[in-house]
Amino acid sequence: MQVVHTTAELRTALAGQTGTAFVPTMGNLHAGHVSLVELARQHGQLVIASIFVNPLQFGAGEDFERYPRTLDTDCEKLAAAGCDLVFAPDVTELYPVPQTFSVQPPDSLANDLCGAFRPGHFSGVATVVLKLFNLVQPRVAVFGKKDFQQLFVIRELVRQFNLPVEIVAGETLREPSGLALSSRNGYLSEAERIQASQLQTQLAALVAAIQSGERDFEALCHTASRHLKMAGWRVDYVALRDAETLQPPVSASSRLVALGAAWLGSTRLIDNLDFVLKNPS
Ligand code: PAJ
Repeated sequence: MQVVHTTAELRTALAGQTGTAFVPTMGNLHAGHVSLVELARQHGQLVIASIFVNPLQFGAGEDFERYPRTLDTDCEKLAAAGCDLVFAPDVTELYPVPQTFSVQPPDSLANDLCGAFRPGHFSGVATVVLKLFNLVQPRVAVFGKKDFQQLFVIRELVRQFNLPVEIVAGETLREPSGLALSSRNGYLSEAERIQASQLQTQLAALVAAIQSGERDFEALCHTASRHLKMAGWRVDYVALRDAETLQPPVSASSRLVALGAAWLGSTRLIDNLDFVLKNPS
């Protein structure tokens, strides 16, 4: 596996390549990221991963500085997973001049759900992903459902800018407790880590209630949020949406997604469960 740090090296390594499958990451890789690389293998002859902690998508006071940077172990994991090439630029390589142009998702998306609590986040994500797509020129790019709203933003980016990239979604990998794997789980204390699966448990209870016929979505979200608060979480939101539109469900909605974001101490965790409604009204 080759590791390159500059766009010039990347261009050389890519010369003449078509059929690339690309997995963008911020590093500190876990089995969830590895599963995306394995999925990418099924979609391209050449698998490229990027490792870049993108300052543009972190707000003031967020964890950009403390975000774990573990390039050597990341590369070992990527090599073992069958990745062919790693692009790991530093900030000045990817942003050699101030990034005054940016991709601005519509307010309805940028300021919704996580966007309401992380102003500028999805613009930062969309901007860096567009840059990475231009550099890597993949045929396929793989993103995790773990970041459901991010996946939605990327799909819209590709659609609305006619990018010649197929987006493939990978399922969320979880610990046996149900806790979704995340680089940010490393911030949790031992006690918090035991508690952390409650977010998934509450979302699963919400989904189970809907599947058993309950239809007061607002009340169900409120209950999930209340249970988390009682257990000591600070809740940003618990929401139920149409999984195709990310809008509140309408009577015709058949694929739904329950999403939540909440804090345990100084760690913000997100999770979601998508499902097909059993008894549509
Ligand atoms: P990062 O948080 O490193 O995630 C990289 C990819 O791994 C994303 O597509 C994410 O959805 C996926 N992922 C995270 N946890 C997962 C899990 N438990 N199971 C399966 N996949 C999982 O998302 C980003 O980086 C950045 O925003 C990025 C897209 C790289 C742009 O900077």
